[in-house]
Amino acid sequence: MTFPAVLGWDAAGVVEAVGSAVNRFHRGDAVFCRPATHRMGTYAEFVTVDESLVADKPGNLTFLQAASVPLAGLTAWEALVVIAQISPGQRVLIHGGAGGVGSYAIQLAKARDAFVAATGSEANHEYLKSLGADQVVDYRHQAFESVVDPVDVVLDAIGGETQHRSYQVLKRGGTLVSIAQPPDPEESAKHGVAGHWFFLEPDGNKLAQLGALFSQGLMVPQVHVEMPLEDVAEAHRLSEAGHTRGKIGLVVDSQHAYQTH
Ligand SMILES: NC(=O)c1ccc[n+]([C@@H]2O[C@H](COP(=O)([O-])OP(=O)(O)OC[C@H]3O[C@@H](n4cnc5c(N)ncnc54)[C@H](OP(=O)(O)O)[C@@H]3O)[C@@H](O)[C@H]2O)c1
Repeated sequence: MTFPAVLGWDAAGVVEAVGSAVNRFHRGDAVFCRPATHRMGTYAEFVTVDESLVADKPGNLTFLQAASVPLAGLTAWEALVVIAQISPGQRVLIHGGAGGVGSYAIQLAKARDAFVAATGSEANHEYLKSLGADQVVDYRHQAFESVVDPVDVVLDAIGGETQHRSYQVLKRGGTLVSIAQPPDPEESAKHGVAGHWFFLEPDGNKLAQLGALFSQGLMVPQVHVEMPLEDVAEAHRLSEAGHTRGKIGLVVDSQHAYQTH
């Protein structure tokens, strides 16, 4: 990475040009992606991306909607599908359910026919239910470990005390996947739980599988605040406050952001 670096790890747009070795995409294709971690980011009109990280944009999503999916959606996919391998009927607890990752994780778990409990402040409870959550817990006023029956999987987007207390609701043989901090291996072993942490490695094939769920209407994009790219500093302040709902969409090109092709 060279500095000054351009931030931004989500994009949707139209292919402007392809390299000579590229054969899966062509100029004019509508695509979305989570670009490489250490290349220049997407707060820009153009971005260069390896074709292995790109997928066709779901045709029913606008570019702005599609751009809200890759990072948060792939993180949910990695946690629930690749690592926890959730199956129908399993019980899943999702911490931070109203956030970017959580709002996609709830929908993904429901698309896989799991039972979903999710934590969020009371103001977000109707929202969590609208995403499909079967049980909602107000983390500010309720101890989730005393109201949620034992679960097979916890997706921890919060860390700290929330992670430690999660062992109390996990079945032996269950899986704790954190995206906030690595679980302590000794603590996981003591509770008979598989503890995981990962930092997302983007992947166009996984993104295509995720995109199919949006095309089928099994998942719905979650852009709750839109801002022009010029207001990106304000968008970061809002995000850092830690209580945004779903995703913040940054509009680079207002002529095309609301179009589907
Ligand atoms: N390892 C990775 O690859 C990876 C990938 C993506 C994200 N992350 C990390 O994962 C975390 C979540 O990311 P995000 O983008 O989903 O965050 P986000 O969108 O900023 O999350 C905001 C949400 O968190 C909820 N929240 C805050 N404190 C909570 C608590 N104690 N219990 C339950 N919910 C709480 C808020 O709900 P209320 O307003 O109702 O409080 C809000 O809806 C961040 O730390 C991020 O850096 C890691």
